[in-house]
Amino acid sequence: MDNLQETFDRALTAAAEGRFDAAETGFRAILAVRPDEGGALFGLGVTLMNTRRFQDAADALTRAVATPEVEPLWRACLAQALYMTGDFASAAGAFEAVGEPLGDGAQLTWARAAAYAAVETTAAETALDLYKRIAGPLAEDPETLFREGFSVLVAFQRLPAARKLGDWLARNTPDDPVQAHERRVLTDQTIDRAPSEYVEALFDGFAERFDRQLVDNLGYDAPALLVERVERRGGRFARILDLGCGTGLAGPHLRRLQGRLTGVDLSGGMLARAAERGDYDTLAQAEAVDFMRSAPADFDLIFSTDVLIYFGDLTPLFAAAAEALAPGGLLAVSTELGEDGWTLLPSARYAHGDAYVRAASAPWFEIVDRAEIPLRRDAAAVTPGCLYLMTLKPA
Ligand SMILES: C[S@@+](CC[C@H](N)C(=O)[O-])C[C@H]1O[C@@H](n2cnc3c(N)ncnc32)[C@H](O)[C@@H]1O
Repeated sequence: MDNLQETFDRALTAAAEGRFDAAETGFRAILAVRPDEGGALFGLGVTLMNTRRFQDAADALTRAVATPEVEPLWRACLAQALYMTGDFASAAGAFEAVGEPLGDGAQLTWARAAAYAAVETTAAETALDLYKRIAGPLAEDPETLFREGFSVLVAFQRLPAARKLGDWLARNTPDDPVQAHERRVLTDQTIDRAPSEYVEALFDGFAERFDRQLVDNLGYDAPALLVERVERRGGRFARILDLGCGTGLAGPHLRRLQGRLTGVDLSGGMLARAAERGDYDTLAQAEAVDFMRSAPADFDLIFSTDVLIYFGDLTPLFAAAAEALAPGGLLAVSTELGEDGWTLLPSARYAHGDAYVRAASAPWFEIVDRAEIPLRRDAAAVTPGCLYLMTLKPA
């Protein structure tokens, strides 16, 4: 018993210090001896939440709340874990079972979970009424709720329910270019690139949260990884273009290459953040392909992370990059890795198969380096990505 208590205490300390591997090992060691030890099941569940294994966390917490030691906090954690797996109906049920007042964040998550579950079987307005009843004075406005709900339901592939919210948004916010495009994507997979007005409005609205969301929540690291590969290859790049530079996450890394750094993006909001960073010699608001066409042989390196995901057909982009690179120039890009050809995903992003990237770039570029990476941790899974270095073929 003493040994188990020591193991438990060490696992708790490890969890509190963020050493989740050690914590998991400790809690599992206890459960190997006492499979129904509530505290260890709860500790394991929270540890698994911290390492974003939400389904495993929900399984452990489901067992924890079935033990006699169950505490209200355990039920609230189970509800959060279920929400993160996209099981909104069970999440709403688990929140309800907590049986005592929740914090504001948990109360809102409960209200959202109930609304997202309800919209699977009822009208958007009915789901909204339920949301308001649970959220009470905390309720966000319906537009915010349904925008967020639309994205969440798409991410979990609940497309009929997402369409219901999309239809509500179409009726109530008809002039919104972001909603218009995201709804169209669900019914028309032939659109071969994201419209500029969509990209601009989407990222203007996202600029303030972008770094926090991508880096902290989604584990996005493509700019650093791609610059490392450029450095490893070597070469001198006196003039560098960061195409679709966004908030300038690549800026500090590209600075190491010691060239003159130009950033181009469609979104004024994203460019304002990049300007605050102070890494760029020049920043310009322009469409990527148009910009490169107007800059013949102006760059030695064109660098672009998480931008090709807004292009289905990559041919115009590769052709324009070939025009904008000086002889011997390097193109460094990331893609979201898909199967065959290019695919427009319900998320309104594009995924590209490797064979497609090779074929589309072949008239102008030779691929000299390629690596598969985990690109983002999306709603339910890790999204695979691919990094490419390509040299310009002699004319
Ligand atoms: C996901 S963000 C990536 C930003 C940055 N490259 C990074 O890795 O953090 C995509 C950026 O590409 C920009 N973008 C998308 N399509 C574009 C286009 N056709 N022309 C210029 N910028 C574009 C968006 O405005 C947005 O800032």
